[in-house]
Amino acid sequence: MNFDYPEGATPIDLDEAQGLLLPHISTRAELDRWEQENISEAEDTVLGRKQKNILTEKYARSLHKRMFGTVWRWAGEFRRSQKNIGIDWMQVPAALHQLFQEVDGWLEYQAYPSDEIAARFHHRLVAIHVFPNGNGRHARLMTDVLLVHLSGEECFSWGQENLTNAGDCRRRYIEALQAADRYDYGLLLAFVRS
Ligand SMILES: Nc1ncnc2c1ncn2[C@@H]1O[C@H](COP(=O)(O)OP(=O)(O)O)[C@@H](O)[C@H]1O
Ligand SMILES: [Mg+2]
Repeated sequence: MNFDYPEGATPIDLDEAQGLLLPHISTRAELDRWEQENISEAEDTVLGRKQKNILTEKYARSLHKRMFGTVWRWAGEFRRSQKNIGIDWMQVPAALHQLFQEVDGWLEYQAYPSDEIAARFHHRLVAIHVFPNGNGRHARLMTDVLLVHLSGEECFSWGQENLTNAGDCRRRYIEALQAADRYDYGLLLAFVRS
C-alpha cells in the first residue's frame, strides 16, 4: 500500500495501516471514497439529531468511531505515536480535557462571539491531534456539532470545497490555522464562513 498525501496530512504508520478494515483498497482515491461515505452518514446523524455531552472525551471518541469505524480498526482510539503535527501523544487525554473545560467556560460566559468560540475550538482540537488520522475531518465535524447544538448557529462552510484534496482551498485553510498558531484568528474566521 502506498498512498500519496496532500500537504499537511498526517502520514499513516505501518501498524496503523494494518488497521485497514477494507483489504481491497489499494489507492488513495478509493480510500478517500470509502472514508467519505462513512463520514457523510455520520454527518447526517449527528447534525440532524440532538446530541448529548458533546464536550467530553467519550463523545469525541464516539464521533471519530462513527466517522471512520467502517474503514479503520483504530477509529475512536487515541493516538499512540508521535506525528509531525500535534502534541506529545501521552499528553493527549489531559490536553483534550483542558480544552473541553475551557470551551465550556467560553460558552457559558460568552467570552467570544459564537463563530470565534468555534474557530478557536477547531484550531486547538486539530493542534492536539487526538487520533492517528482523520483529525482535520473529525475536528471540523466536532466544530459544526458545537455550532449547531451548543450555539444554535449554522455549520461553517469551510471554503465550500473538499479539504482532503490538495488545492487552493486547503492551502487557505492551512495558512489560516498557521496564523491562529500566532494568535491571529482573522484568516480562520474569514475562511470558515467562505
Ligand atoms: N501546519 C499545520 N498547522 C496546523 N494544523 C495543520 C497543519 N497542517 C495540517 N493541519 C491540520 O491537520 C489536519 C490533517 O491531519 P489528519 O489527521 O491527516 O486529518 P485528515 O485525515 O482528516 O486530513 C488538516 O486537515 C488540518 O486540520
Ligand atoms: Mg489524513
